[in-house]
Amino acid sequence: MTDYKKMSVYQIYPKSFQDSNGDGIGDINGIISRLPYIAELGVEYIWLTPIYISPGNDNGYDIADYYNIDPVYGTTDDFKNLLHETHKRGLKVMMDIVVNHTSTEHIWFKESSKSEDNPYRNFYIWKKNEGKLPNNWVSKFGGPVWTLDERTDSYYLHLYDVTQADLNWEYEPMRQEIYKMMRHWLDLGIDGFRLDVINLLSKDQNFPYDTLNTFTDDGRKYYTDGPKIHDYLKEMNKEVFSRYNNVITVGEMSSTSLEACIEYTKPESKELSMIFSFHHLKTDYKNKDKWELQKPDIMELKEYFTKWQNGMEKESGWSALFWCNHDQPRIVSRMGNETEYRYESAAMLATLLHMMQGTPYIYQGEEIGMLNAHFDKITDYEDVESLNAYKNMINAGKSEEEALKILRERSRDNSRTPVQWDNTENSGFSTGKPWIKMGKMADRINVEEDLKNEKSVFSYYKKLINMRKEYDIIRDGNFTILDADSEDTFIYTRETEREVLYVICNLTDKTLEIDKKITDSAAGGKCLITNTDIPCEKGMLKPYETSVWLLKK
Ligand code: NOJ
Repeated sequence: MTDYKKMSVYQIYPKSFQDSNGDGIGDINGIISRLPYIAELGVEYIWLTPIYISPGNDNGYDIADYYNIDPVYGTTDDFKNLLHETHKRGLKVMMDIVVNHTSTEHIWFKESSKSEDNPYRNFYIWKKNEGKLPNNWVSKFGGPVWTLDERTDSYYLHLYDVTQADLNWEYEPMRQEIYKMMRHWLDLGIDGFRLDVINLLSKDQNFPYDTLNTFTDDGRKYYTDGPKIHDYLKEMNKEVFSRYNNVITVGEMSSTSLEACIEYTKPESKELSMIFSFHHLKTDYKNKDKWELQKPDIMELKEYFTKWQNGMEKESGWSALFWCNHDQPRIVSRMGNETEYRYESAAMLATLLHMMQGTPYIYQGEEIGMLNAHFDKITDYEDVESLNAYKNMINAGKSEEEALKILRERSRDNSRTPVQWDNTENSGFSTGKPWIKMGKMADRINVEEDLKNEKSVFSYYKKLINMRKEYDIIRDGNFTILDADSEDTFIYTRETEREVLYVICNLTDKTLEIDKKITDSAAGGKCLITNTDIPCEKGMLKPYETSVWLLKK
């Protein structure tokens, strides 16, 4: 049985992972061909972002048919083969499931929109047109959350794109259909789910018309960790997860709270195994606005980790640890150094995260220190969120240059460029024209290069992943921050009755002197990993230096 508290997960964004048939889009057979590489990294699970039939307006997060694989990725037989090949290597598979909304192309929505007495009407959330929008909530992708459907003169709710209609979780028959579908995938042999924006399922259906005229509040308080969310997750657990052995679940939580996440994951709740929260990745949002740039606020970042590490540990909750995914810019570009210290900063950021309590998730390409794409032209962007944001920024008075500067840092396409496998054309991703432009510096930043070198981001990640399996203190130790006042370093310990682990990170490109007491204590132990030849040399930290020390008490 996999101990999810000692494992790591590798996230695959199939569209950009490996193409096997030259159409420029990654596919299942491409994933199969790269399984030995993933196994080499030492992870236990892979998570596949959605590969179900979809019009692809939000790259698969708009599902049109929950039961079938989109032909661009392959067939059900290919998928069964993937499961077989994955399991053969001792790896397990987590499918991404989107049950907050479906595509408007889904048969349920097509039926639901036909008439008010259609059997599927209540699968979605409709409001009769009374001459104005039912409320002023703002979609996560910009614009109102309501779109009028003239066939029944009613608005439907969509927290995301207009083609992603929100399901009505109040309606039991709809919930049962979802559970049945989830059991279908478990029956086929998958080992878990990543549940998309799962804390948004329960909406306050009075749809209070927010009195705010500004859009600083978009209405999220009415549906985030909503009134019946725990009931739904308990029911899902009972109807689905609990019926199988060893199913691991991770819920993606939008704008959530520590209290809610403890409740979602403490074992007695019988809801989810673990959660993703995003507060640490908003510390570079100016005034909490993703589309306004600022340097990461290190104090806020450290406060977040301290609060969540302590809070989850104390109440037996469990976090997924991550810096990167398909919605986030690359972490080395964001908080590290893209040039001189790429290796050092990639290793330091990985150490900072991987030595915490939780289950680390590694997003394809992160393990070789891939960088943001930083596209220069608006026509290079593919992502629906980025394109909407660009329009909104221009409408709000930003110049094209300003808006592009922001996209270059913030767009989700930064992390969606294909995995750079080698130094050949299209970096070994595809023999055809890739669906999206390739990323930066593929001649130097690629898998082949990393596998050749002992000192590489890949081998550093591999070591961290294996340390988690070997040292129980990484799972169990109490977290204490030692340098809460510093904006330059992040130093913490993990402690059990018998051992202490020191984790030392220089977050800057400067050489720093740190508290001698810390280096003296740490150096009394064994150095388990570092990104430099002589760690803590003369009580100093080199740019982006990191080291981890284990002391017996
Ligand atoms: C979160 C997913 O990670 C993201 O890619 C998607 O756009 C939204 N949920 C909506 O499904």
